[in-house]
Amino acid sequence: MKREFSKNDFFTQKAKEEGYPARSVYKLQEIDEKFKLFQKGFFVLDLGAAPGSWLLYIANKVSMTGKVVAMDILDLNIKPLNNTVFIKKDVLADDFFDGPLLNQSFNVVVSDMAPNTTGLLELDVANCLELTQKALEIAIKVLAKSGNFVCKIFEGPGTDNFVKEVKGHFQMIKRYRPRAVRRGSKEFYLIAKGFSPQRKS
Ligand SMILES: C[S@@+](CC[C@H](N)C(=O)[O-])C[C@H]1O[C@@H](n2cnc3c(N)ncnc32)[C@H](O)[C@@H]1O
Repeated sequence: MKREFSKNDFFTQKAKEEGYPARSVYKLQEIDEKFKLFQKGFFVLDLGAAPGSWLLYIANKVSMTGKVVAMDILDLNIKPLNNTVFIKKDVLADDFFDGPLLNQSFNVVVSDMAPNTTGLLELDVANCLELTQKALEIAIKVLAKSGNFVCKIFEGPGTDNFVKEVKGHFQMIKRYRPRAVRRGSKEFYLIAKGFSPQRKS
């Protein structure tokens, strides 16, 4: 029987060869090539950043004139980079918005956050939606006008309402499933561009 989650699949192997700690980087790369999210000098907030593949990719794209603030409950598994700051934090914590770092504005907020799966589909989808909703709440607070937002979503009850909610804040939104998403997974990404602080849903 073919092993769907082989540790040596094409993207896992490629990530190893290219020095990324996780294959997820190819999801972001494909999204970025299609939707042009990052520019040199951009400030980016990376939610659910560990082990650090997206962070490496983004730090390179924004270059030394830009900055990436990365957050996760787990530690990163990459060497520290000069244009990144890592904050070990649970986005669901009550004190999430305390502290000076989030008082700045960002050009892009990305969230690849995913909960530990329980195997119970409905619970997993609900837990993921909670993280995604928090990511949107954060994005609305910290994004600069015309900023971009990308988040991972697991298709399930509540997805359509969430997508509608995001639509109310951005000029353009698109659902996208990069090639590196595992076959059979309910995962897709929502790409939202052109944050409009005053727009209503
Ligand atoms: C798929 S991984 C992210 C991979 C990352 N984008 C990369 O390329 O290396 C999902 C991450 O979400 C993080 N996460 C889950 N719940 C979180 C929470 N409440 N607050 C912050 N991070 C969380 C997990 O710890 C995990 O590292």
